[in-house]
Amino acid sequence: MPTYQSGVAGADAPDQYGVAGHPVSHSWSPFIHGMFAKSTAQNLIYRLFDITPEDFRRDILKLFTGGVRGLNVTLPHKQAAAELVNELTPRAARAQAVNTIAFFEDTTLLGDNTDGLGLTADLERNMKLDLADKRVLILGAGGAVRGVLGPLLERELREVVIANRTPAKAQKLAAEFADLGAIRGCGFSELGGSTYDLIVNATSASLQGDMPALPDGLVGEATVCYDMAYGRGQTPFTAWAESQGAARACKGWGMLVEQAAESFLLWRGIRPPTQPVLDALARHA
Ligand code: ATR
Repeated sequence: MPTYQSGVAGADAPDQYGVAGHPVSHSWSPFIHGMFAKSTAQNLIYRLFDITPEDFRRDILKLFTGGVRGLNVTLPHKQAAAELVNELTPRAARAQAVNTIAFFEDTTLLGDNTDGLGLTADLERNMKLDLADKRVLILGAGGAVRGVLGPLLERELREVVIANRTPAKAQKLAAEFADLGAIRGCGFSELGGSTYDLIVNATSASLQGDMPALPDGLVGEATVCYDMAYGRGQTPFTAWAESQGAARACKGWGMLVEQAAESFLLWRGIRPPTQPVLDALARHA
């Protein structure tokens, strides 16, 4: 593994990291990485970078030539980031989406995707769910979904259905991952008729306070509903899940923290403890 570029003047200057997104002001990543840095005694700063899609390439390259050593990438830039970097980890190549970039001394920009590990770690380790042989419905077909399909399909699920506002995008994504397991794509109106064990909301609809229009009958009494979005109180999706009688309706705090820990590991070579951060977020958020 190449060593990190030292891009800041002075031996004691903190190493620079951050998250690029649009919008990004709602992000808890600076809080999470701040706690990770403290608990592992790493000297770093982590900032928010609001970058529009038009400026993405120019601004990201400027950040790295200016000394930033690693970035998280969030919506809507995950696919653009996969095109920008000059090397991809196998899981990011599979996803064709990047949520973590590391800048190395030899000027390699390495793109990784830790979203899938973040989701499966939260479902299995934190929530104690067994995913084998489960029927899973994923709402949305954007960059966030690309990152989680590989690790989910490794669990030998019975079936994955991707439903999206634009059905063709869901069908295309399903075709890309069909070699890994039973998967199909469709529109929201084509759902119905049977319940799922796990329903994951990966649309960005909640950012607009919105919720995809879903038919009744998808949620059974054992169904777990998981919103990749997070925030205070209910999201439109968790409110819907409870109104449909879901066994559990969770927000994506655990995925956020676990994917961040994997990014931190790539950048600093240390996987920070996540439970103290989960506890702190449960108190603050
Ligand atoms: P991310 O990186 O978070 O996946 P993205 O790539 O911009 O972000 O994808 C956003 C996803 O949310 C898409 O699946 C989008 O549906 P379309 O493919 O039809 O655009 C979905 N989405 C956004 N707003 C939505 C809304 N109001 N209702 C339903 N789906 C929505």
